[in-house]
Amino acid sequence: MKLFIDSGNLKEIEALVPLGIIDGITTNPSLLAKEGGDYKSILKKICQIVKGPTSAEVVATDADGMIREGRELAAIDEHIVVKVPFTKDGVKACKALSSEGKKVNVTLVFSPTQALLAAKVGAYFVSPFVGRLDDIATSGMGLIREIVDIYENYQFSTQILVASVRHSIHIVEAARMGADICTCPAAVIEGMFRHPRTDIGLERFLKDWEKAQAVKV
Ligand code: E4P
Repeated sequence: MKLFIDSGNLKEIEALVPLGIIDGITTNPSLLAKEGGDYKSILKKICQIVKGPTSAEVVATDADGMIREGRELAAIDEHIVVKVPFTKDGVKACKALSSEGKKVNVTLVFSPTQALLAAKVGAYFVSPFVGRLDDIATSGMGLIREIVDIYENYQFSTQILVASVRHSIHIVEAARMGADICTCPAAVIEGMFRHPRTDIGLERFLKDWEKAQAVKV
């Protein structure tokens, strides 16, 4: 399963990419708004650091505007994946941009029917939001199960990008279901590393080693 960072923050991205575990980045207007500065140059820098798919979202709400913005975003770097919201206009824009060879991420997906339609118009990624579904007492991971089944039935090539991830259990379940990608806030990725038994075990190994060296002297 590929692992993306859900962030527009260069420091977070620069800290995690050298570990070799990051395959791409997702941003959205809320994340980039937090950073300030010129969003196009931030996106360019992100692409140069990660050298992998970097989702950048349009803010137009009509299909023509989305297509225009999508082309502008795609011109920033070869790694840009144009993100469009799941609306009728977004679906139309996805079809148009995909037909001209651009990679499109259809976002704000909350139902299996939306995911089916996104695949039909050639989305490169589909982004179901699991955390925001959990927030309203609906199983986010249940949605992922349904999309995995539907895409397998018809051999759709659209990759399932599990979004709005809040904790490690989302990641484990996504991996067990065979979802293609999880995009996670940096703090959630940090959490994947931690286990108190690892820290205790390492401390003990090093102490035992030190003791043995002291005896030799
Ligand atoms: C995905 O592409 C979105 O940017 C993101 O995962 C939304 O997550 P949130 O629900 O934590 O805002």
